[in-house]
Parts: sequence; structure tokens; C-alpha cells
Amino acid sequence: MTAEQAQQKIAALRQLLNEANEAYYEKASPVISDREFDRKLEELLALELEFDLQSPDSPTVRIGGKPSKIFVNVEHPVPMLSLSNTYNSDELFDFDKRVRNLLGHSDFTYNAELKYDGMALRLRYKGGLLVLAATRGDGTKGDDITANVRTIDDVPLRLKGSFPQVVEVRGEAYMELKAFDEMNRLREEDGLAVFANPRNATAGTLKLQDPAIVAERPIRFFAYDLLFEGDEARELTQSEKLDLLKDFGLPVCDVRRECATIEDVNELIQQWDKTRHAHPFETDGAVIKINQERFRDILGVTAKAPRWAIAYKFEAEQAITTINDITLQVGRLGTVTPVAELEPVQLAGTTVKRASLHNEDEIRRKDIRIGDRVLVEKAGEIIPQVVSVINPEAEGRGPEFSMPENCPACESELVRIEGEVALRCVNPLCPPQVRIRIEHFASRTALDIDGLGEAVVAQLVEAGLIETYADLYELTTEQLIPLERMAEKSAQNLIDAIEASKKQPFERVLYALGIRFVGSKVAKDLAKAFGSIDAIKNAGAEQLSEVDSIGPRIADSVVQFFGNGVNRTITERLRSYGLQFETEQNETASDKLEGLTFVITGTLPTLKRTEAAALIEQHGGKVTGSVSKKTSCLLAGEEAGSKLDKAQKLGVRIISEDELHSMIS
Ligand code: IVH
Repeated sequence: MTAEQAQQKIAALRQLLNEANEAYYEKASPVISDREFDRKLEELLALELEFDLQSPDSPTVRIGGKPSKIFVNVEHPVPMLSLSNTYNSDELFDFDKRVRNLLGHSDFTYNAELKYDGMALRLRYKGGLLVLAATRGDGTKGDDITANVRTIDDVPLRLKGSFPQVVEVRGEAYMELKAFDEMNRLREEDGLAVFANPRNATAGTLKLQDPAIVAERPIRFFAYDLLFEGDEARELTQSEKLDLLKDFGLPVCDVRRECATIEDVNELIQQWDKTRHAHPFETDGAVIKINQERFRDILGVTAKAPRWAIAYKFEAEQAITTINDITLQVGRLGTVTPVAELEPVQLAGTTVKRASLHNEDEIRRKDIRIGDRVLVEKAGEIIPQVVSVINPEAEGRGPEFSMPENCPACESELVRIEGEVALRCVNPLCPPQVRIRIEHFASRTALDIDGLGEAVVAQLVEAGLIETYADLYELTTEQLIPLERMAEKSAQNLIDAIEASKKQPFERVLYALGIRFVGSKVAKDLAKAFGSIDAIKNAGAEQLSEVDSIGPRIADSVVQFFGNGVNRTITERLRSYGLQFETEQNETASDKLEGLTFVITGTLPTLKRTEAAALIEQHGGKVTGSVSKKTSCLLAGEEAGSKLDKAQKLGVRIISEDELHSMIS
């Protein structure tokens, strides 16, 4: 290669890698795989070295992603670096050799941890209180996303135990696979674009402007490093630091181990590779760290990564198969989703036959057609995705796919709702929608009606015996017996199971109603905060949004649901059959707050707002959403806003969480 050719090649690689970095870090939607990125980066580095064409702004030196302009920038006192990757045992042994050479001895151990596939965060605690949470950004400066991170339940707002004045925590925000799948399923039903994987969903969420929406998303956190301002950590090991983090109340993953030698590390991570799918979260490898903190300084860092740690990446699990057909599925809320019917293929331990193609835009973007050979990958735990077409240049490919104009199930015209990518069938009596609503109502996490699975629901709907879930409570054994595979005994069992569902707690009933955006967690929070269906019905959107996990979107949807006459009739029928419409009366702990009305605002030091509300109610007090002359006390935490102003104007008593505790103790 001539110098000129090298220059051209270097320019092209830099552009490609910069674009890939931008897509990954700023748009949270990667365009090439991690492995491909690493290969290109290595190729670039080799060329830069060979032709002496290094540059301070090359992606070989810069960590991806500029800090965004929307959030306030913060400088990292200790840079947030990346990790070098290894892909096989040989590369791992090379790392060990390098470390021993640099140290000049083998007097150290390793600590192996899982590599969590999420987004790096930096947390700063002062006097035990969370004062800052920031993204990695370019490694030296990131975004201040404290307000968003404060909504993550896993991240304590106050440390436990005894801790130094300043504590820096490094860790990974992530989403569990089940929660990710559920969130995507609801998004798809709601006609919204789905996230490609839990990592993108996490990064995309934490960069949102509205913490109320962040609070609705199932973000979790694992701490993986602890930094002190002074020398306190010098004599500690990585595993002791992780234990300390745990003592401080931070979540630390228990899949970790100290290893005496690199051979032990190697054996361990081969085992971890086999069990990687057993975890509730996604892991793309392991991180191997020199256990003794004091060797970190000696080994130092390169421009991008520390020399005292390395990542070991597991092989990505993908498979190639053929799209036999593209069919259409109608969801609970009428969303019509195209589905790829695949030639069955083994993937991450299961046989994959179908993959959601999400919507027409997505199919166009990836140019997916019937008959194509495609690369499939598991995005979450269950749902496989079509990544790309293998043979886009092949001759004789099928025609481009286009969505029908009418519902494949009931023939009514499909509509596209503004702001949504999906097409929707808005006929409430469309049979698959009716079926799915009833299936949801009877499902295990909702009212758990044993024996009322897909097949039975389909028969009941087809036979015209039920049109809504309320009709279930009018069924008789005589009506059931003529159905296929239904004997007298099973008919009686089903009637008994329907009867038993009347005892299910209120939060389950609320979830079973199938209100848009109200998943089981939101239903639980609503039930806890309001106590009854009437209280929820009477609350306006603003009061509903007072609950921690409820943003304006959910609040509007709840208001809309109960504003609809059909829904009101159906719910009133459920009430008349005896379903639980309020939370069981919690035993009152005392009546110390009897006759007092509270409003809660701001971030409290230890209690979530819903917990504070429950506590007040347990002691006989009442909690309302807005401050008025009737308010007895405003319980105010940090960053209290307009409610505090109003309370001050009205002369309402303002109390802290501590004062609340002393009022009831
Ligand atoms: S230690 C100097 N430990 O992987 C960086 N990182 O590819 C030291 N990651 O940005 C990081 N799990 O966000 C460490 N157990 C773990 C990790 C982990 C995931 C992420 C981290 C980092 C990225 C580097």
C-alpha cells in the first residue's frame, strides 16, 4: 500500500467509525456490530502506526460520543474510560503476559465480573447524599442526568452505613430482559417504535428530557467500581470494594469471583459463556480486573482503556434462515403488526419460527421481502429480530412488501394515528382484539383464571358467548359443555376458576382491565396510591401524575379509559359481580394523623412519594394532590417547586420527612 492509499483508507475508516460512534452514543441506535467496530478500529490503528499517521481526534484515541448539548456538561475528575476487548483464550493469556511483564512479578490475583450490557454511569455522593449522576460522554466530560437517575429505584438517594465524605460510584444502568420485552410489547401494541435491544432502550431513556417518563421505564443499576478522593482505597481489592458498595446500599451483581490465575479466569468465563442466558439481564461478556487496587496506578491507562482490566466478549448469538411468509397479527389495541414466518432455526437454545417485523417503515428500511435469507438475533429473552437481509443483491427477489388497507381479521379500514408508526384497526368488536383483551384479563399476571387459555377464549368468542370480559361472569356450565374438549368436569372447573377470580386483589383487577400503558407495576402503584377504583376515576390527570411511576401519558390514558362510556358500563358490571374494587384496608398503625390532609412534593431523602403516602394513610391521615387552604401539611423534599410556593403563600405548615417520622413515632 502506498502512503497515499493508506491516507485514503485511514480517512475512510475514521469516517465510518465516527459515524458508528455517533449512531451508538448519540442516537443510541448502532449501525454496525461491536465486533465489526473493533475489527475496523484495529485495522485503523495498525495503519496509523505503520504510516505514522496518528491524530489526536482519531477514533483510535477519542472515546465515542460527544456530550450532548441538551444537558449540562460536567467534567469527570477521573476519566470514564472504555475497555479493550478480547475474543478468545489466547488473547486473554496475552493480557496476563502483558500485565506480568509490566509489573515484573505475578504477585496479584484477578477479579472476574460479568459485563453488563447497558450504559455507563457515574454517581457522586457527598455526605452520603446523591449529588450528581452523569453519562460517560467523551470520557472526560459527560451529561448531568441527575434528575433522570434519581428515578431509578436501584440507585439510593442516600448511602447506608459509614462512608467517606465524597464517594464516586461507577456502574451500569441496564434493563432486565423480561421488563424490556414487556415494555416493547406494549410499545408495539401502542403503535410506537420499539427499541432494538435493552442497551439502546436504556441509553435512549436516560437521555430523555422528562424524568417522569424515565420513571415509567424499568431501568436498573449495577455498581462495578468505587473511587475515593484520597488514598483510602489503595490497600483494598476490587472484590472488597464491591462488598463495600453493597454495604453502602448499592446493588452489586453476585456473579463475580476472585481467581488466583488467568487459567482459572479462563475456565470460569467459559462456564459463564454457557450460562449467560440464565441471568435476568443481558451480558455480552466478562470483565477481568487486577484485584489489588495498588497495581492500578503502576499499570496505568492508555488513551482509551486501563491496562489493569480487560473485557472478554462472548460470541454474538445469531443465525441465518429464510423468510417463508409475512403474515399480519392484530393486537389487543388493534395494532396490526407484520410478522416474519421463518424456516425454523436454532437460536440461543430455542427453535425460532417467527419474528416481529414491527411495522412497514422497519420493513422498508431493512428491505425485507418474502423468500429472503436473513440474519436473526435475539433482542430480549424471547423475541427474535430480523437484523438484516443476507442477499439484498440476489436476483429474482420477491416484490416489496406493503401493508393492506383493511384489517386482516374484520375488514374494517385501518388508520394511522398521528405520531405512531403502526397501522391500527379501530373496530372495538374486531374478533382478535376481543380475544386478546379477554386473554389478557384471564392471564396469570392479571386475574389468573385457570383453564381460560387462548383456545377456550377463541371458542367462547366464536360461539358468540362472550364479547367482553364482563360476560365471563354470566357463563353457565350448560353453555360450556357443548364446546370442544369441554367435559362436565372441566366446564365446572372453569366456572369455579372464574368465580375465584372475584377474590383477586384490586391491583390485579386494575391491571386486567387492559388500560393502555397500565402494566402490572403501574397498576400496583395506582392501587397503592389511590386505594380504590372510584378514587382513580375521580382523580384528574394532574393528580394521577403525582404518583412516582405515572407520567402524563399514562395519566391521560387512565382518564380516557374511564371517560369512555362503554368502559364505564363494563367496569360497573364487574363491580356488581363482586370483583375487588378497592385495596384491602391496611391495618391502621395508629390514628396519630387522623383528620390531617397532606400533600407531598419534591424528592424525599429516603421515602418514595408513594411510600410516604402509604405511611400517612396507615396513620390515619389523608393524601391529596394539590395544595389548598384545607391542606394541613406539605411534606416537602428536595427540588420542591410550585406546590411549595403555594403552601408558603397560603401559610400551610411545611414539614420534612424527619418531621413526618416524629409526628407518627
Ligand atoms: S469496569 C475503565 N466492570 O463496559 C472502565 N465495566 O466497554 C472500567 N461495563 O464503559 C469499567 N460491565 O460501562 C466494568 N463489570 C463491569 C462492567 C463494565 C459493563 C461497561 C462499562 C464500560 C464498558 C467498557
